[in-house]
Amino acid sequence: LANGRCVVAVDGPSGSGKSTVSRRLASALDAQYLDTGAMYRAVTWAVLRYGVDLSDLEGITKVAGELDLAIGTDPTAPHVRADGVDVDADIRGPEVTAAVSAVAAVPAVRQLLVGQQRALIESAGRIVVEGRDIGAVVAPDADLKVYLTASADARARRRSLETTASVDDTHADLLRRDTLDSTRAADPLQQAADAVVLDTTAMGIDEAVARLRAMVTA
Ligand code: DC
Repeated sequence: LANGRCVVAVDGPSGSGKSTVSRRLASALDAQYLDTGAMYRAVTWAVLRYGVDLSDLEGITKVAGELDLAIGTDPTAPHVRADGVDVDADIRGPEVTAAVSAVAAVPAVRQLLVGQQRALIESAGRIVVEGRDIGAVVAPDADLKVYLTASADARARRRSLETTASVDDTHADLLRRDTLDSTRAADPLQQAADAVVLDTTAMGIDEAVARLRAMVTA
């Protein structure tokens, strides 16, 4: 697999270490990196910007269809632009974070973004893709499927370090999003049957990356 095609799917809940591990793994493998959560976040940013109500499924679908989304795949600087605007900071903000589960539950939005994700994977050839449905839906033929997880406490602690919110508020928000993302009808967060499960509760980033790297080169 040294220089050939290689697709690694990394799924799991928020705070599992998915983003850091996926980016580091992509750099180590000299591969590209795709953050599919950033795509759902960018669509959500546009929905909020254009004042579309979260209960207006047709309106959300229209915004998604018309959005000019440019998603960077460089693991050291994965920039996102939406309708020409740099949205790197805004898509991580509290407004988008609070609304993204609702947007990601719209089947037509998923269908559209999954198509774009498959095209990006196809043209990259060598790529680490992170999300919720990558191993099961987006790239069922991935060379390696990983399901990264960690205890809710550990995930809340990590997330609160990235924001100004308290651990308790982050914990409540994580559980709310986990429930929404796992119980929705369209492509819920799921562990592919053939995924390798890695629990990072007591594992450092370095160790997680090293283990996955060994699996790819094995
Ligand atoms: O990983 P994240 O927190 O950036 O994901 C943002 C939201 O998008 C989260 O609520 C789950 C959803 N998502 C999804 O439904 N499918 C994906 N492949 C990636 C993210």
